[in-house]
Amino acid sequence: MRTQVVIVGGGPSGLLLGQLLHLKGIEAIVLERKTRDYVLARIRAGILETGLVDLMREAGVSERMDKECFVHSGTSISYENELFSINFEKLIGRNVIVYGQTEVTRDLYDARDAVGAQTIFEADGVSIHDADTDAPYVTYLKDSKEHRIDCDFVAGCDGFHGVSRQTIPDTVRKEYEKVFPFGWLGILSETPPVHDELIYANSTRGFALCSMRNENLSRYYIQCDLSDKAEDWSDDAFWDELKRRLPEDIAEKLVTGPSIEKSIAPLRSFVSEPMRWGRLFLCGDAAHIVPPTGAKGLNTAASDVQYLYHALTGFYLDKDSRGLDTYSEKALARVWKAERFSWATTNLLHRFPDQSEFDLKMQRAEIESLHFNETAQKWFAENYVGLPY
Ligand code: APR
Ligand code: PHB
Repeated sequence: MRTQVVIVGGGPSGLLLGQLLHLKGIEAIVLERKTRDYVLARIRAGILETGLVDLMREAGVSERMDKECFVHSGTSISYENELFSINFEKLIGRNVIVYGQTEVTRDLYDARDAVGAQTIFEADGVSIHDADTDAPYVTYLKDSKEHRIDCDFVAGCDGFHGVSRQTIPDTVRKEYEKVFPFGWLGILSETPPVHDELIYANSTRGFALCSMRNENLSRYYIQCDLSDKAEDWSDDAFWDELKRRLPEDIAEKLVTGPSIEKSIAPLRSFVSEPMRWGRLFLCGDAAHIVPPTGAKGLNTAASDVQYLYHALTGFYLDKDSRGLDTYSEKALARVWKAERFSWATTNLLHRFPDQSEFDLKMQRAEIESLHFNETAQKWFAENYVGLPY
């Protein structure tokens, strides 16, 4: 088999890239290790920057998103009983939208079906060969048979645990990592959101986040110990702890109900450089991870996709390989800015095991500057809605 681009990984990065390339007449095959149902059962963040919204529109997959999303012109932050809002619209004239990543992925799969683009599910043992030559190829096992796809380029969109990054030799690859000493316990519940904006809460008991999916579906998180197990947290214990971390008037309004999903996620910052090796290009979680504070994971993946999409269309349609040559540098420049924002908001809002009283005063001074200083608010707003590509 031969194609122009093999996309390893059928998560949002790979699917969005595939759809954008398809519309430009560039053929791509997506190889996904799991089943479609498995991919669509993952629950991830739900805030989309304008850049990603524009890409979804360009890919022709925005119809349901435009109909069902919530537009948020700001976000709220609380510390103890104080709650304030950072109004993006007023500060910088922009906004974000609330639409679950699972729905983004579902819309992309439906669009792929509609155009008849090829996705191979349950592709085992994917292996990328000769990426440092002009004739790369990818092999995989499907139904116990080995298959080979020859191609011009490989897009490594296979997430943090994928094979693409590992294909880049250790002598070339450098990884940067910070693991945070806590996790997020998250639940999804069929209850109305407690507030019309998201609330990021810094409390003496640790961080909490009130997010949402729609009028009757809420997503809440609390900072927890890394040793905690989701199954040891009853729903009642979760709701009680969440309430203790929110301003009293918000806690009183909180509608609780049974959880329909409950899980713990660790918090990590991670970047692997470079993002290109020969004809292999890494995109999204395959190259970088952010802690979820600020919801930059999917949005940073989308900026990689945008750079790679332009680089590949430049190559195929304009015979110009400059985009490919500068891909890693351009993508990484924006990745590091998103890493910085996610790391800074994580430091701002969580309680750390070794935090001194001085550290707590600094954290409070920083939150107060966000509360009262317009320059600080503008910085936050620009980063939250997404820096330009
Ligand atoms: N072969 C084929 N597919 C693979 C392999 C492999 N060896 N390893 C992983 N995959 C698949 C996974 O099953 C998954 O469906 O690659 C996909 C990667 O998807 P994600 O992990 O979702 O990564 P990405 O598409 O880059 O999405 C960006 O933003 O909010 C964050 O982490 C969040 O998923 C989100 C990410
Ligand atoms: C979510 O809705 O799951 C969410 C929202 C914002 C974040 C992280 C997660 O910063």
